[in-house]
Amino acid sequence: MNIGFIGSGVMGSALAKAVSHSGKGTILVSDVDSKKAEALAKELGGQTALNQEIAKEADYIFLAVKPQYMAGMLDGIKDVLASRQDRFVIVSMAAGLTIKRIKELAGGDYPVIRIMPNTPASIGQGVVIVSPDQLVTEEEINLAMSMLSPAGKLVRLSEKQLDAGGSISGCGPAFVDLFVEALADGGVLCGVPRKEAMELAAQMVLGSAALILESGKHPGELKDMVCSPGGTTIEGVRALENGGFRSAVMEAVIASYEKNAKLG
Ligand SMILES: NC(=O)c1ccc[n+]([C@@H]2O[C@H](COP(=O)([O-])OP(=O)(O)OC[C@H]3O[C@@H](n4cnc5c(N)ncnc54)[C@H](OP(=O)(O)O)[C@@H]3O)[C@@H](O)[C@H]2O)c1
Repeated sequence: MNIGFIGSGVMGSALAKAVSHSGKGTILVSDVDSKKAEALAKELGGQTALNQEIAKEADYIFLAVKPQYMAGMLDGIKDVLASRQDRFVIVSMAAGLTIKRIKELAGGDYPVIRIMPNTPASIGQGVVIVSPDQLVTEEEINLAMSMLSPAGKLVRLSEKQLDAGGSISGCGPAFVDLFVEALADGGVLCGVPRKEAMELAAQMVLGSAALILESGKHPGELKDMVCSPGGTTIEGVRALENGGFRSAVMEAVIASYEKNAKLG
């Protein structure tokens, strides 16, 4: 089986690595920057190709260019797609572009799976939301999910939920990065060396997230376990609430979701 990636940037390369680890097929990669595609193909033991070659030969065609470049890129391959007699599946990871829009741009009612990955997929710790359209068979969905499984956790949602979910898991790494950086800054201000402050912050976030998932406990309950009466942590919680922390985080998710809706 040929599995093609059009776009070898941040997300295309992260998912191409994961799919390569699944051993499900030969990886073909393209990019306007041929050096980028060559480096990725070399790393994965795959092959470089032109967009049109991927459009012609890949059984699964992953579209990994920025949403604003999707129309131009698909315009360049739609004649090749239209001339194919064999079965193929398009997998789009573009934020905000609906399955309907991808089909319009690709020029045909092809089977399309929309996915929403995130950057931790590059180390197998990601979340990939998967939303297939009705033309994709269960067998094809299962195959796509098994090739993506080395990227991390897979969550199947409806397309409408994908946009909302992606505002948490797709955009969220940037929100968490800000949080970690700010925690470390606070520690530095209080005298912890930068490197150690960053390690403490990142490992704490990793461990806290794992504890939520493994214990199945509500985060509020876990928060209460850290806050002794009259203690130090509850003072920090008060400071966060004063700064509108929870509201700011909710607004971040909503802002990303609303921007998603404008991209389509
Ligand atoms: N980054 C994330 O965290 C994230 C999360 C979820 C979903 N996504 C989605 O993943 C997709 C890719 O995003 P990204 O962050 O990986 O972007 P990126 O790093 O810019 O990668 C896209 C790559 O595609 C290349 N490209 C542009 N037009 C092309 C064309 N016509 N043919 C072949 N290659 C082309 C770009 O080259 P140039 O750099 O020269 O333009 C770039 O190397 C987007 O649709 C985005 O919505 C990203």
